[in-house]
Amino acid sequence: MAFGKIPRFSPSFSPKEALLSARHLLRDGPDDEVIGKFEREFKSYIGARHAVMVPSARYGLYLLLEALGVGPGDEVIVPALTYFAVPAMIPLLGARPVFVDVGLTSHVLDPAAFEAAIKPRTKAVVPTHLFGTPCDMDPIRTIANKHGVKVIEDCAQSTGARYKQVRVGNLGDAAYYTFGLTKNMTTLSGAMISTDDDGVAERIRATIRQGGRTPKGKLAKEAATGLAMYAATHPLLYWATVHPAVVLGNKLGQDPIHERFGEAEVRYDKLPGSYTATSQARAAQAAVGLHQLNRLEALNGARIRNGRKLDQGLAHVPGLAVPSYPEGAEPIYMSFVVHHERRDELARALRKRGVDTTVGYMSDCASNPLFAEFAATCPNARRAFETLLHLPVHPNLAERDVTHMIEATRQACLEVGR
Ligand SMILES: Cc1ncc(COP(=O)(O)O)c(C=O)c1O
Repeated sequence: MAFGKIPRFSPSFSPKEALLSARHLLRDGPDDEVIGKFEREFKSYIGARHAVMVPSARYGLYLLLEALGVGPGDEVIVPALTYFAVPAMIPLLGARPVFVDVGLTSHVLDPAAFEAAIKPRTKAVVPTHLFGTPCDMDPIRTIANKHGVKVIEDCAQSTGARYKQVRVGNLGDAAYYTFGLTKNMTTLSGAMISTDDDGVAERIRATIRQGGRTPKGKLAKEAATGLAMYAATHPLLYWATVHPAVVLGNKLGQDPIHERFGEAEVRYDKLPGSYTATSQARAAQAAVGLHQLNRLEALNGARIRNGRKLDQGLAHVPGLAVPSYPEGAEPIYMSFVVHHERRDELARALRKRGVDTTVGYMSDCASNPLFAEFAATCPNARRAFETLLHLPVHPNLAERDVTHMIEATRQACLEVGR
């Protein structure tokens, strides 16, 4: 922390990777060669038989469900606390999302709630390793196997995390990951699916091949945004520009960063044409992905160090609930999510002390009007949605930043009261 201000996040994308992407964007091909290399390295990192680049995690989920034969009248179990675009894919195949509750402070699928929701038409479950925390996969797998339910892991926020020493993505029938600019590793834009099932991988490859390449202009824009994020989270620039903008925005009742990186929650009545039209990745994305994959252990390692320190330092602060983790889970601390009854006041009190926070982008989908016809009562997801706050935990925090944050959070909690 220089200049006393701590940004809510910082990108893993670096100027070196911006140059790398520019070099690939300025020449034509060989896309498939670089993409093939990235897919091979990624699948061996995860320990899966196949990895296929896809344009987004949500479309990856759609393709996996389709390849696994999920169709009209089927049911797919999803945690209520998740990103809206996940359950939004399920009705597009004629199937029903069935929302089940999560652990209040683990934020991940409750195995007992999963089992209770299984019905004859249940075809798949999507355990979501939210905020970098692996789900309790042993009971989830046992229950799924007993009932013949396919397990599709959502690793969008957890690439590299482990459960009982096995990487997430290697604990079910298939998995998907996403590599946007704000994720723990990035390919500018784009995502991946992995599976051990030869047929599923081949069917998805065949579909992806029918589309064109990601537009170069879109990737150039992402690279420019990534560089801007890199610069804006540099301590001096952050202190001089972003932090004052966030403070001013908040005084006016807005959150400029949330608005810039957020996506409107919309209803999908059909699969957006853009998904299929430009479904193939480019070499520039794969080249950045290869570089990022080499840095991933170091990046995740820094998150883990910061997260563990926060776990310890904030364990007994009155009014504050800290995250919990299923036994055997080895989280990568994509986010550090606390709960407080007065989270908006807490966020203000932290901002005053130079610590920027966010409420993030997850929703209690079980009570979200977008999914009214699939509504369910999931009290933990609802409560988490209403009280959660993300503290900074990104890899660019120095040890003294984390120490400052712990002290600032203690003081802020005292100021706000319970
Ligand atoms: C848990 C989770 N699942 C799925 C997604 C969707 O990823 P994409 O934007 O690549 O479709 C996200 C996006 O942030 C996410 O956080």
